[in-house]
Amino acid sequence: MFTRVCIPPTCARCVRSFSVSVRQNAKAIIYTRNGEPTDVLTVRTLPTPPAPHGDQVKLKFRLSPVNPADLNVIQGAYPSKPRPREDLGTPEPAFIAGNEGLAVVEAVGEQVSSVRKGDWVIFNTPQFGTWASEAVAKQSDIIRVPRASDSPLTEVQAATLTVNPPTALALLTQFVSLDPGEFVIQNGANSSVGQAVIQIAHRLGLKTINLVRDREGIEELKGQLKLLGADHVLTYNELGEKTARDTVREWTGGKPIRLGLNCVGGKDTTLMARFLGQDAHLVSYGAMSKAPLSLPTSLFIFKNLTCHGYWQSRWYQQHGAEDRQKLIQDLIHMMESGIVRVQME
Ligand SMILES: NC(=O)c1ccc[n+]([C@@H]2O[C@H](COP(=O)([O-])OP(=O)(O)OC[C@H]3O[C@@H](n4cnc5c(N)ncnc54)[C@H](OP(=O)(O)O)[C@@H]3O)[C@@H](O)[C@H]2O)c1
Repeated sequence: MFTRVCIPPTCARCVRSFSVSVRQNAKAIIYTRNGEPTDVLTVRTLPTPPAPHGDQVKLKFRLSPVNPADLNVIQGAYPSKPRPREDLGTPEPAFIAGNEGLAVVEAVGEQVSSVRKGDWVIFNTPQFGTWASEAVAKQSDIIRVPRASDSPLTEVQAATLTVNPPTALALLTQFVSLDPGEFVIQNGANSSVGQAVIQIAHRLGLKTINLVRDREGIEELKGQLKLLGADHVLTYNELGEKTARDTVREWTGGKPIRLGLNCVGGKDTTLMARFLGQDAHLVSYGAMSKAPLSLPTSLFIFKNLTCHGYWQSRWYQQHGAEDRQKLIQDLIHMMESGIVRVQME
């Protein structure tokens, strides 16, 4: 999937008709029980929130991204969920869906010092419930998006800042120290995370071998990934061909590939792992195929393979406000300076 899906802020405009000003109510996408999103999600008109006071901030959402993990949260297949809400006018506690979002500050309580009216903010608190047109948050729930007046940072980049780009950065830097010129191999390379991996790796001077599913228009996809900085793009079928080992050896000059990134699982990942070299690290961060990951024991015995899992939410749990703000600042810098560009459409 190339496009980040964002819910536009259609619900909370002021509509002026003749001399009468009619304020539309805020809306949110909510659920009261886990299940398939198409079965359990409904749109709810919210009670008008009171004016913010104390450390509260009133927000109007600009964009609310839909990530694969959001669907897993609604299905109940994810180890975190939004806070149950009893203030949504539902007979039973309900959850507002959505983890990431970009909102604009509309008003602040008297104790709020970190943001002011008009600022862009993103969310510090996982599973805040961003699929809404408006919200009242605590100051500690949000992070200001600092921008220079001539910043090229787009709303889409800001709205999708907290999950995929930091994951890509962590995958490339937290598990093995690679020297410029070394190779990384990844599957799901056209995913949002995969595209960020390609761009950040390129900037770090690393080479990437990128695996994608075959499709109509595969050459166009390969070309788009190469424009982002991908060195090589193969389909899983091409990686399975007899000649693939020689081709990859030619690309790497026979040097071991020491980092593999997996967001797919299943047999295609088993195949990818066979291309890892001595002392390599395989980092799993997603399971898009829903198939278990099976690895030959020989990779552990003879190649000393190390496997890890990575979860960006864990990083946020383990790091304080200062680290989070610095991470966001670093990512904004990467976007403003063009290291990570807009996702392919
Ligand atoms: N652990 C973490 O902290 C973390 C952070 C961010 C994301 N993630 C996870 O990373 C994964 C990618 O997220 P994203 O937002 O980048 O996703 P995305 O942009 O929606 O892309 C999804 C990717 O998955 C591929 N895919 C879907 N079904 C597949 C299947 N059955 N077999 C092989 N490939 C399949 C798609 O390939 P096609 O184009 O061929 O359909 C595409 O490359 C998700 O599992 C997400 O939950 C984890």
